[in-house]
Amino acid sequence: KNYKIAVIVGSLRKESFNLKTAKVLMDIAPKSLSFDLIDIADIPMYNQDLEANPPKEWVKLRDKVRAVDALLFLTPEYNRSVPGVLKNALDVGSRPPGKSCWDGKPGAVVSVSTGSISGFGANHHLRQSLTFLNVPAMAQPEAYIGGVAELFNEEGQLTNDSTKDFLTSFMEAFEKWVHTNAH
Ligand code: FNR
Repeated sequence: KNYKIAVIVGSLRKESFNLKTAKVLMDIAPKSLSFDLIDIADIPMYNQDLEANPPKEWVKLRDKVRAVDALLFLTPEYNRSVPGVLKNALDVGSRPPGKSCWDGKPGAVVSVSTGSISGFGANHHLRQSLTFLNVPAMAQPEAYIGGVAELFNEEGQLTNDSTKDFLTSFMEAFEKWVHTNAH
């Protein structure tokens, strides 16, 4: 069986290392997985007052996520947590109550940082929200990609072989996770 995966990247930067890593992951993934890279740049900030007549971007996000089997998150770390734009997407998708688009979809988290702590804080803050959202997030292997500026060349290609091997095994494990937990 084939499974569709939403890829959600917590950086809006054109040259984002998280985005570059997401592209590598989609490229090297096992063939039973296909991907929808979801753009979260223009999702209006969550405001309960808008729920009666939700912005079209909210509806689009919720519909796109409903259409997939599983979720792959890539997050930078901003001040030891997830960027606001990613948290906002989680909040928008979680509403209205009882209608969360995330509910029950298996997921995985990759944190990508130029620093040496490798986005640990963001990775685990994201996991905290995913636990509440009933997104079972793959526990192992964990993916903390640090010192990322040294892993890619000027053309945006991943040139570090051991990282490539790790990401390949990560996606093989994720394929199993999705096959076991998606419904
Ligand atoms: C950062 N960065 C950062 N890095 C880190 O390891 N821990 C942190 O807490 C922070 N905090 C932080 C806050 C803000 C506002 C910015 C803009 C940046 C650095 C961050 O890891 C780096 O900019 C990455 O390159 C961001 O990911 P993308 O945009 O390359 O995907």
